[in-house]
Amino acid sequence: MSIPLHVVILAAGEGKRMQSRLPKVLMPLAGRPMLQHVIATARGLKPQGIHIVYGHEGEQVHAAFAADEYCDLNWIEQQERRGTGHAVQQVLPSLPETARVLVLYGDVPLIRQATLANLLRVTDTLAVLSAQLNDPTGYGRLVCDSDQRVQAIVEERDCNPEQRAIQQINTGILQAEVGALRRWLGEIQPNNAQGELYLTDIFALAARDLQAASSVDCADGTESKGANDPVQLAELERIYQQRETTLLMQRGVRMADPSRVQIRGNVSVGRDVEFDIDVILEGEVTLADGCRIGPFTRLRNCHLGADTVVHAHCDLEGVHTGSACLLGPFARMRPGSRLANAVHIGNFVETKQASLGDGSKANHLSYVGDAQVGARVNLGAGTITCNYDGAHKHLTTIEDDVFVGSNSALVAPIVLHAGATIGAGSTLSKPAQAGKLTVARARQVTVEGWSRPKKG
Ligand code: UD1
Ligand code: CA
Repeated sequence: MSIPLHVVILAAGEGKRMQSRLPKVLMPLAGRPMLQHVIATARGLKPQGIHIVYGHEGEQVHAAFAADEYCDLNWIEQQERRGTGHAVQQVLPSLPETARVLVLYGDVPLIRQATLANLLRVTDTLAVLSAQLNDPTGYGRLVCDSDQRVQAIVEERDCNPEQRAIQQINTGILQAEVGALRRWLGEIQPNNAQGELYLTDIFALAARDLQAASSVDCADGTESKGANDPVQLAELERIYQQRETTLLMQRGVRMADPSRVQIRGNVSVGRDVEFDIDVILEGEVTLADGCRIGPFTRLRNCHLGADTVVHAHCDLEGVHTGSACLLGPFARMRPGSRLANAVHIGNFVETKQASLGDGSKANHLSYVGDAQVGARVNLGAGTITCNYDGAHKHLTTIEDDVFVGSNSALVAPIVLHAGATIGAGSTLSKPAQAGKLTVARARQVTVEGWSRPKKG
């Protein structure tokens, strides 16, 4: 019954006011290009096609979405930037005659799927997403008849004083039947203050054809905000962050100060999760019940088990923990760090491709890389796995119940067998035997008859 939906995303903006080498739609919002947010929202509507209009300097934009996961996108170059109507004209050859088209903007990334679904529920030939603004400066105004049918959309610079006073504005987002859109776009002329082909001119043509558009007001005016300069970009970021932190708090997360939490990915949480200030979460993050995240900490692609505590100043990436682990302060844990339960990783400890079994500890000043560490192992302060010979990485295997004394260098590949004890200051390049004390350091001697040199 329902006719297919095609989404057009206008992304040919020059973004001059950003004063950047990066095209505007690639500017990051919450760590991802603005355009990526719009694409994700568009995909949520399950359209038959997504068409992106990019500008002549937009190769970078196209290239940013070259990955396989974006192969569903149809890229259309607008060689000359002759206005929003001209931009949509470029897509017409790609659209089937019986379809509905939704026009979105690459620099309006906060628009919600539910709002678009509301707009798409309208069955009229043409419908526009509008907003009521106390200060409508800069936007096209909706000129409506007494039935709230849109008679025209007039750009601010083409408005008479009466029109300029209208507070219902054009967000730019609209939907239309392809057949009618094609006819109207064939008629528009650049008769306006900017000499451009205005997409908005189709509204007067629709009214003329007795198919006047309806409008749907955007309940939350912040959704249709665009980013033209760094100030507006920062404003969008704040709105986005406020949305995300509010959602998390509604799921029970307690935050010392939500304005000092940054969410740049997807976060799943259990009950009784707490964040102190300046917590940054990136990628896919899962925090089980009772996790506490200390201040000044970044977590990227981490899965922390129940009651895990991250103390202040940690940088964790690709970390998986079981329950009740204690991390930091000042821990740097890199991808492939896998901890079982009740593992302690303390201050100035770096881990990478390292697994540690239940109850094991590396509490101070260590590097544990390319290592398999069993349960109940104690790695003393300054234990270093020497994993790299300049060409290759090698594995360090430390079995259960091993005790490594402070300042030990373990030259990999090496195995420390179960229950071995390593004397402090050892440099080991051979296996340590199970249950025995191994010491590999120069013996201490006392030199008899020695005296300090004296001056004169
Ligand atoms: C447009 C609307 C205005 C609306 C406002 C909402 C028109 C004529 N006016 O005005 O009614 O209130 O948006 O923000 O449509 N673009 C292209 N190719 C072009 C021209 C523009 O891709 O040739 C893209 C831009 O990158 C931008 C969007 O279309 O993302 C809007 O263009 P812009 O020039 O910013 O339109 P406004 O003057 O803001
Ligand atoms: Ca604009």
